[in-house]
Parts: sequence; C-alpha cells; structure tokens
Amino acid sequence: MCGIVGYVGAQQASDRPLDVVMDGLRRLEYRGYDSAGVALVADGAGVLATAKKAGKLANLVEELDLNPLPAATAAIGHTRWATHGAPNDVNAHPHVAGKVAVIHNGIVENFASLKAELLAEGVEFRSETDTEVTAHLLARAYADTGDLTAAMAAVARRLHGTFTLLAVHADQPDVVVGARHDSPLVVGLGDGENFLGSDVAAFIAHTREALELGQDQVVTITPDGAAVTDFFGAPAEAHRYTVDWDAAAAEKGGFASFMDKEIHDQPHAVADTLLGRTDAAGRLVLDDLRIDESVLRSVDKIVVIACGTAAYAGHVAKYAIEHWCRIPVEVELAHEFRYRDPVVGPRTLVVAISQSGETMDTLMAVRHAREQGAKVLAICNTHGSTIPRESDAVLYTHAGPEIAVASTKAFLSQITATYLLGLYLAQLRGNKFPDEIRDILEQLRQMPDKIQQVLDRADHVRATARDMAGTSSVLFLGRHVGFPVALEGALKLKELAYIHAEGFAAGELKHGPIALIEEGQAVFVVVPSPRGRDSLHSKVISNIQEIRARGARTLVIAEDGDDDVLPYADEVFFVPQCPTLLSPLLATVPLQVFACELATARGLDVDQPRNLAKSVTVE
Ligand code: F6R
Repeated sequence: MCGIVGYVGAQQASDRPLDVVMDGLRRLEYRGYDSAGVALVADGAGVLATAKKAGKLANLVEELDLNPLPAATAAIGHTRWATHGAPNDVNAHPHVAGKVAVIHNGIVENFASLKAELLAEGVEFRSETDTEVTAHLLARAYADTGDLTAAMAAVARRLHGTFTLLAVHADQPDVVVGARHDSPLVVGLGDGENFLGSDVAAFIAHTREALELGQDQVVTITPDGAAVTDFFGAPAEAHRYTVDWDAAAAEKGGFASFMDKEIHDQPHAVADTLLGRTDAAGRLVLDDLRIDESVLRSVDKIVVIACGTAAYAGHVAKYAIEHWCRIPVEVELAHEFRYRDPVVGPRTLVVAISQSGETMDTLMAVRHAREQGAKVLAICNTHGSTIPRESDAVLYTHAGPEIAVASTKAFLSQITATYLLGLYLAQLRGNKFPDEIRDILEQLRQMPDKIQQVLDRADHVRATARDMAGTSSVLFLGRHVGFPVALEGALKLKELAYIHAEGFAAGELKHGPIALIEEGQAVFVVVPSPRGRDSLHSKVISNIQEIRARGARTLVIAEDGDDDVLPYADEVFFVPQCPTLLSPLLATVPLQVFACELATARGLDVDQPRNLAKSVTVE
C-alpha cells in the first residue's frame, strides 16, 4: 500500500531526479492511486519544491505540465492509498514542515497523542493525515541535530504502528533518508546515483543491484552510496542481492492491461516455478527451503495462513497435501488466525502464502505462529520482502512482477508451489513411492502447455463476458478443488467488475443458496472430471440440473470430452484433461479471462480497481 520512491544522484541540479521519481511512481501506482505527489530539493541547496494532486498519477502529470518544477538534485515521490484523511490534494503526500518534506506508507498509531503534543506547542496542521506529525517532528529533530539521518532515527523511535518514511531537507541537497518499521523499503544501488523504493519496481529500469533492509533500520542515500543504521544510530547490516527480472517484465508488452498480460504470462509463471526443482534422478530438490529435513519429517499438522486469493491457493493445497502426505491441513485467513489462540506447536508447520511478502495481516500471523513455537514456511513471490525474511523457511514462486492489483499469475504459481511442497513432504516422509511422485511431477510439467491451450481457446469466454456486460449478479459453484476455484472466480469478478458475485460449494446449494436462483441468474459451475472421484461428477451434473430447472443460465467449465454437461449447459468452456488435484491450474483461467473482459466491457480499469491496492501493508 502506498508507493514510495526516492532518488539522489545529480551533482548538478537537473530534471533527472523528477524523471526518475515520476517513472518509479508510474511503476508503483498499483500500490495505491488515491493521490500522488513529489518533493524536490530544487536548484541545489535551500529550496524545497512540491506538487501533489488527488486522484491518479495522470492528474499529477497534468499539474506538472501546467506548473513545472525547477531542476533538482534529490527527489521523493508517493502514490497514496488513503488511511487517515480523505483522498484530496491537501492530504496527499508529501507533507512539508519548514525545510523538511516527508512521504509515508503505513499508519502512525500514536499520531493523536503526538499531534496533541505538537498542537500544544503551537504547531499548525494543514491536513487530516497521521503523516503530517512526522513532518513536524522531523523539522524539530533537525533543528536539534542539524542532520537528517539523526533526526529520522529520533523520530522513528517515537512512532508506534507501521511506517516507511522518506524525507528530504532543503539544506542537505544530496541526501534522501528513509526509515522502516513493519513496512517495505528497498535500496537500489546505481553508479553515482542511488534509489529507494517500496519495491524494486521503483528503480528496476535503472539498476538491478539492491539492498534488502532489515526491520527498524534507517538508510541514508547520497550519490556515492547507502549507509544503514538502526534507530539508535549504530551501523547495521543490509543484505545485497541482484534482482532476477528486468524492466521489460514490468511492462504491458503490447497487452491492453497488465491484468491481461499477466493472465497470458501464466504458462511461464507456472513453468518457472517448477524449473530446476528436480535432480537428475527425478527427485524433488527444494534447495531454497532452508529448513532442516528432520523438522519437516516430524510435522504433524499444517496450517496455511493467507488472505484473499492467496488463501484460496491454500484451500487447493489442503486437498493436495492431505491426499499426498496424510498430514491434516487447516486453512485460515491470516487476520482471523492472528487474533485467536490457535493450537499450534513445534510440530506444526505454518505455511504463509503471500505474493507481495508484505501483507500486514499475514506478517502478523507469521509472528503469532512463531511466538507459539510453530515453524513457518513462506510461499512468496517477492525476494527481499518481510514475510520470507521473518519465516523459518521459504519457497519462492517465480511468477515475475505482478502489477495488476487483482492477482492472477501469482495465484497459479502459489498453487504450483504448494504442490511442490506437498510432493516434497510426501517424498521425505515416504508417503508415496518415488515413481508415483515422478508421475505427478510429469503431469505437473505438462500443465503450462495445457494452460496455454485454455488461453488459446479464450475467445468464447471473452464473447460471453461482453454479452453479459450488463449483468448484475453471477454465482459460482464448485466441489472439491473446484470449490476454491469458484471462490476465486467470484472474487475476481467482484473486485474488477463491481458486481455481486458469490462462490459456493455446490453441495451447499440445497442448504440455502439455491434460494437465490431465479429466471436468468447466471451461474458458473466448475465440473470435476468424470474420471475423478466416485460420483462427484454426477453430483455436480445433478446440481446443474437443479439450478437450470429454476431458471438459471448455466456457464459450465468442464473437461474435454465431458459430453454429459452438454444437455444442461447454456455455455460450455472446455479445458484439457488433467489429474483432478491439478485442475485448478486450468479451471481458474476462463474465470480470470471472464472477469477481465466483462470489467473492460463495462469501461472499468482492470489494473487499478476502485478502493483496492496491491500489497495491503496495513491491518
Ligand atoms: C485479489 C488479491 C488479494 C491478495 C491478498 C493477499 O485479487 O490480489 O486478495 O491475494 O491481498 O496478498 P498477498 O498475496 O500479497 O499477501
């Protein structure tokens, strides 16, 4: 939430700081788009220049065209997802106090008491934000110390809550200072210039060399380097790494939207997540796990914690891991897990699934689980992010950058990673014969081609979606692994098209939801393979008949060759045959395409749906 960029490099004042920061904001806008703003240390020393506008980045671009800012040596920029104060011009960041400008991601939980203290001292506030207190505190601390780094450390020590702060001071023209506590901040290392960003997308067009900051650190960038300390000024370590994707991966590549592109990236995302994870003998090797095999052998329960789409990946994992490993798996929303007294202990493996690695609800649940003595394994798509850093083990997905706010390729990669984990546990614990595991892995390796086939056939889905652009409600039904697919289909549609959409377990229909069925009600049904579990297929066919008899328009996802669905389906979207447990990798895709196309047909921005943000870094 909230995108943050900082740049310093120009020895002479120039347009580069503003250009770099605006480019970074464009790449980070998916993190929040309620307002955007920049602050520059202009014309060398002594002058701060700022511009900020409510609404999308385009409004700030227009403002800068009308009222250009002067050349600069350092710059910071922000895209906001509003927490405190309405999304208007005044509440937009940066916030300025004297010669200091500040941008912030997170929530300052003790802002009310800090504000009361400042008001009592005669400070006047302009905005309704929690952030503005940090600007005034920094200005005061700078007056005491004469140094922005020392001032930042002093302020960071006083704040409660979560924050990434970046600041510039007019009297330190070649310095940008950042601080982080429970909120992301990475450093980009350039040649004679350095960068700060909420994530590497902020500076990937300029450098792939990065520093991963630890918890409670202050970083000072100058043209010559980056210095890291703790909140008390003591030198601190930051891990250096090279980002394994480039700027092109974060561009639309000819697609109309990032979402469309990312849906089409899915064969690669799944293939890359599988890549290099077997040895010459065909045994699974998860080298990056960094957890002792004896710990995994002793696990007697798995608890998956995640939010939203990532939690649905966890639901798929439950079916697969319980079947392959005979270990009980619970799936719980991270924000629920975190506030109860869960029964977990040293033999519990908590699997935290997160694309961003920064979701605050999931991070807090990770900490809660570790406090109870559980081991935590993160499944994550973002190197250098907080959740893997705070976990005992990590399995990275290799989906590449996911820019569209609604998750697509990360979901399929997360499911793939959970399959790898399940098969690895089965291999370690001897639950399956090696040739059985090899066989499933072989089937898994065929999935990228099959996903591509689903994409190649998507015209029918798109035409149906356009045809249904005026619909006001769609229901989704599924059973077994088709149930989380139904939940995901409904989530995609509600977040992109803003229409009522709900997913149900098809078996639950008669226990209530069938009352919703009336003439013309659109219902997607994810039909399990007729070659799968006894009778499940025929049960779902019966469910289709039941809703159709009550007037539903049935939109059926079925396996190639499943002619049983034809008499009861208004539309059928066939997907290639595959083992039932792997089928979510295929059945989800038409639902993603449907939501994307229907929202587009309604004239909506599928990359940046209203009220949402990528990386929910506040609770
Ligand atoms: C929905 C979506 C969200 C995320 C959720 C968790 O399309 O993207 O539901 O899945 O906010 O995010 P991560 O995976 O970053 O923890």
